[in-house]
Amino acid sequence: MKQKNLIVRQLFEKESSTYTYLLADRESKEAIIIDPVVECIDRDLLLIKELSLNLKYILDTHVHADHITSSWTLKEKTGASIALGERSGATNADLLLKDSQELSFGSFKIKVILTPGHTNGCTSYAIEDMLFTGDALLIRGNGRTDFQEGSPKELYHSITEKLFSFPDETVIYPGHDYKGLTSSTIDEEKQHNPRIGGGKSLEEFSQIMNALNLPNPKKIDTAVPMNLKCGKA
Ligand SMILES: [Fe+2]
Repeated sequence: MKQKNLIVRQLFEKESSTYTYLLADRESKEAIIIDPVVECIDRDLLLIKELSLNLKYILDTHVHADHITSSWTLKEKTGASIALGERSGATNADLLLKDSQELSFGSFKIKVILTPGHTNGCTSYAIEDMLFTGDALLIRGNGRTDFQEGSPKELYHSITEKLFSFPDETVIYPGHDYKGLTSSTIDEEKQHNPRIGGGKSLEEFSQIMNALNLPNPKKIDTAVPMNLKCGKA
């Protein structure tokens, strides 16, 4: 069974409640990391070394506003290529990904799905029966739409027409969780997501999003400029 050869590690950064994912082909040892955080680089590099992995791609789901990516330093230390969505506006990336583009590590394919709305450049990655959704779709929530070219209309389209078109049993691995939940499924979010589940209309979703009134993330002023350079100082 192919899936047996897939290593999946969900890693957590406490301060920003960010999930980082390390995936690898157990046979070829080729690996990718999604949304690595600068404070956790030593932990992540040690794990990569302990598992004897060769990091091929460093994927960011978007230009984050709440933490700084470790992409650039990881690239320097491992030689891996940095990739993120073509609409991210980021410099220093090796690859700017287009919708439906495919990448691979070992015998596994990564399908790129552009899912704008939280930010312009938001990108989800489909691997086997898993969807790494960044902040486009969270567990019982979704990314805010009030800065970085956020748009309730675009996010509604990304979630309902792109992500919700995956099979119901597809496992969602989000970019954050603030309640200790670790994964969900398409079916669960279609039913129970309070903002967009239960067949909510674009109008209902937009009303909810426009009434959130959230404070800005603490690190936004340093994180966004750094992340627009893929974390290069
Ligand atoms: Fe975000």
